Amino acid sequence: MSTTQLNPATLLENINTAVLVFDDDLKLLSINAAGENLLSVSGKQVLGLQPQEFLPGAVQFFANLKRTQEESRPYIDWGVEINLQNHKTITVGCMITPVLENDVCVQVIAELIDSASFTRVMREESITAVYDTARKSLKGIAHEIKNPLGGLRGAAQLLERELVDVELKEYTQIIIKEADRLRNLVDRMLVHDSRPQLTEVNLHELLEYVCDLVQAEVESQMNITRDYDPSLPLLQGDREQLIQVFINVIRNAMQAIGSDGHIWLRTRIRRRCTIRQHYYKLVAQIDILDDGPGIPADIEHEVFYPLITGRAEGTGLGLSIAQSLLQLHGGAISYSRENEQTIFKILLPLSQKHD
Ligand SMILES: Nc1ncnc2c1ncn2[C@@H]1O[C@H](COP(=O)(O)OP(=O)(O)OP(=O)(O)O)[C@@H](O)[C@H]1O
Ligand SMILES: [Mg+2]
Repeated sequence: MSTTQLNPATLLENINTAVLVFDDDLKLLSINAAGENLLSVSGKQVLGLQPQEFLPGAVQFFANLKRTQEESRPYIDWGVEINLQNHKTITVGCMITPVLENDVCVQVIAELIDSASFTRVMREESITAVYDTARKSLKGIAHEIKNPLGGLRGAAQLLERELVDVELKEYTQIIIKEADRLRNLVDRMLVHDSRPQLTEVNLHELLEYVCDLVQAEVESQMNITRDYDPSLPLLQGDREQLIQVFINVIRNAMQAIGSDGHIWLRTRIRRRCTIRQHYYKLVAQIDILDDGPGIPADIEHEVFYPLITGRAEGTGLGLSIAQSLLQLHGGAISYSRENEQTIFKILLPLSQKHD
């Protein structure tokens, strides 16, 4: 255990909450990295300024600061709208604390939390809980089907041996073939159980490997444009499971576009990122885009549930399995549609999580 005492400035720089400190004239004395990030400002340019000078639309925030200063007591406001210099508006939760010396307020500390990301995290959590429940019940059903299925197939084989009339064997063959098909389906439902066997994985090499596999399934040459960030570090992950994730997503894209469509693979490093309530300093973002028609509107909000499919020959397990395997890696997957493109965004942590 380290006994080194971190100085307060280092601590402030490393926390995920935006912290701004103002002097008794409400001029900015310090702002941490999370603050610069949230307010889209550079500390160097805004130090010494009052908030209305660098955030002209932040009337309510300024009023809250003044009120804390005048009343010399902490103040909390959960719905403060701030118009940023880049014309975006954010809604923040804002906790303002006075620093008192001899009962006089000499400084004011403002902590800001982005309400939108807070709400998004809570929504993601509740959706994930529903997905988990759906998968658990599906797994229960899969087990129940799997056991008698073996008996059914065995009995059909025994029966076939006893049959003298060859024509009747056609029926036992149907039983055996359908039992096999059902077992394959059930095995896919049960596949995402095991803990990841972690090794160092090169995501670009893995994506190329998956492209070759998917290419082998189609006759025409797939149009794939790569936009890889070469500085993306190696990732600790289960190679086989991650291959499964990317096969499922890239195969879907390939099925959606037809022979003259296009797929884009994009990788980026993201810093200071929250995935399912956990904060990571470094995250790999892998976007898989295609110019197909997108997910049919009637299933758009349900595609990560098991057995939801928009294809006649689909089983609706691909995305559910991908999500489940990513979850085992602390990662996440989401769908969106922008500029006539279908986008699957995958996030995978590259660093340890910080709660
Ligand atoms: N890139 C995409 N473009 C358009 N629709 C998509 C795309 N990816 C997924 N979908 C839609 O989402 C549905 C669910 O996908 P999912 O991979 O979970 O199941 P599936 O492809 O139907 O079956 P399988 O279990 O064989 O993968 C698909 O049937 C398809 O309708
Ligand atoms: Mg699929």
